[in-house]
Amino acid sequence: MHDLPELLQTKWLGRVHEHHAELGSTNDRALAWVKEGAGAGALVTADCQHEGRGRLGRTWSSPLGDIYASVVVQPAVPAERVGALALVTALALHDGITEMCPTLKDRVRIKWPNDMLIARRKVAGILCETKYQGSRMDAVIGFGLNVARTTFPASLANSATSLALELASTTPVPTRARVLACVLEHLERELECFDRDGFSGARARYLAVALLGESRSVPDGRGGRVDVLVDTVAEDGALEGVTRSGQRIRVRSADIES
Ligand code: BTN
Repeated sequence: MHDLPELLQTKWLGRVHEHHAELGSTNDRALAWVKEGAGAGALVTADCQHEGRGRLGRTWSSPLGDIYASVVVQPAVPAERVGALALVTALALHDGITEMCPTLKDRVRIKWPNDMLIARRKVAGILCETKYQGSRMDAVIGFGLNVARTTFPASLANSATSLALELASTTPVPTRARVLACVLEHLERELECFDRDGFSGARARYLAVALLGESRSVPDGRGGRVDVLVDTVAEDGALEGVTRSGQRIRVRSADIES
């Protein structure tokens, strides 16, 4: 990661950067750094994490070789709209990966809200967390991207992948720093667009790379679950689809469990 500063072409995102050889969780460090005064754009990276956290209390396997990064942002949107931040981050990750690995272009898909899949296996995940100090909202956007690893713990062996595994053996795997610089450049543009237009500014581009037309099990709003044929993602970032009985359903990202 030492070469990140010379590769990075952002205006403000990642310009203040802490890198750690080892860390519990880059999100935890970024949240603590916010308390200590870190401003919008601050970036925390680590070579590995020993308490990497995923969504819904899961762990995030974090050995050497992959990207573990968290950025501090201060989104200029009302708190109830901040959930869609994870969706625009997914789009930035998608665009960064496909710019660095053009041969993967038609294979990388976003599974709503923010899982990055290649051939249905997860290559990256995003964990957004917010912190309030008075009326000011800081958000920490953390993402893990599997770059170089070629083996996974047994529990992930059938559901995870990496750029190294997906690129043909004749295609060199880009370095972590190059991939991260590219993702951060896309993310900076998406964040500026999000402040201006909310998710609606990114919606068409998101829909173009999202997995749609599939059945998903989602909360039914009454404590149970229901299968939904997903057909779109709305202007506010909610998933929409139709149940077998023809009922139209909306699901906010905060309500989804898988
Ligand atoms: C998920 O898909 O469950 C989200 C995974 C998010 C993992 C990243 S790795 C960098 C940052 N630090 C963490 O502890 N988690 C996020």
